[in-house]
Amino acid sequence: MKKHYSIAFFSFRKYEKDFYPGTSGTTHFYEESLSMSNIKLAEGHTVISCFVNDQLNGSVIRHLAEKGLKLIALRCAGFNHVDLQAAQECNVKVARVPAYSPYAVAEHAVALILALNRKIHKAYNRVRDGNFSLDGLTGFDLHGCTVGVIGTGKIGAVFAGIMKGFGCRILAFDPYKNAEIEAFTEYCSLDTLLEQSDIISLHLPLSPETFHLIDEQKTQKMKQGVMLINTSRGGLVDTKAVIAALKSGKIGSLGLDVYEEEEGLFFHDHSGDIIQDDTLARLLTFNNVLITSHQAFLTQNALKNIADTTMQNIGAFLQNQAIPNEVI
Ligand code: NAI
Repeated sequence: MKKHYSIAFFSFRKYEKDFYPGTSGTTHFYEESLSMSNIKLAEGHTVISCFVNDQLNGSVIRHLAEKGLKLIALRCAGFNHVDLQAAQECNVKVARVPAYSPYAVAEHAVALILALNRKIHKAYNRVRDGNFSLDGLTGFDLHGCTVGVIGTGKIGAVFAGIMKGFGCRILAFDPYKNAEIEAFTEYCSLDTLLEQSDIISLHLPLSPETFHLIDEQKTQKMKQGVMLINTSRGGLVDTKAVIAALKSGKIGSLGLDVYEEEEGLFFHDHSGDIIQDDTLARLLTFNNVLITSHQAFLTQNALKNIADTTMQNIGAFLQNQAIPNEVI
């Protein structure tokens, strides 16, 4: 039997609207991210649907469980921001969208590489300003260079395949080898990958073990002038260590789609504000750093897959069926 329910979507953006047609009056869509300060919006809902920067810590979950929450339907793959133990204790189920488009994220990582290497961000501004000089725009052939992939799951494997297509040598570090890419990938130790790669791209989840995986010690092991790409989670990189490595030239260019303190900043328009985060402000001063605000997933295909899987997860829960993508 169908449960009596109400659903609230948080961090819901304009670009998602078209993918949720026909949702009824018991469904509320909030653009705000969920936090303790606006928790009233979520009270009394059976299901909340959240994204990567909603606060789903123990206090939030315990509070909402007392007010009737039964399911957190994440519209993302990562669940490092959810206190799973609290959810389990409160009998709140958590579901996610494990895969929506590995191509979207892998292709964005490649977009950052191409833009940084061929200085497209500089060239775009220069040409618009009537400056057609080429000084300072020299890149390098991707063909023949060594690319290190840390984490070769769904996204890392697609990324490795694309870079192989450019004619790169592929090194990889992952405790589990991916059979799909083994034929053209050399699995090696993390140290070997750091020492030999011209480009390093992170495609592993954030966890207590992987927090600040890229720290001062690791940057010292990298090749002089290496390009570092992070489209996974900001916390994988110790931003202060990376800034020091950019200043010394150890890191030659940096592409970030995620930032460890992105919550409250990314996904919002702060163009009229003064940025209070001095670390981010320093990062933005480097002309060899390209930052996008967590948009790697943002393709039509991925948005449709996210919506379809989210509604399947919620639908199964409401029908008292097994939730296909339950985390706990
Ligand atoms: P996945 O689960 O398919 O693959 C992750 C891989 O990382 C696995 O093969 C795993 O064995 C490996 N891994 C785990 N710990 C490791 C360690 N310490 N060292 C090396 N490898 C390790 O995940 P998927 O779908 O490929 O996603 C990867 C990450 O991409 C996600 O965790 C998420 O943080 C990020 N992501 C970013 C998006 C964006 O818009 N920027 C969108 C979607 C995902």
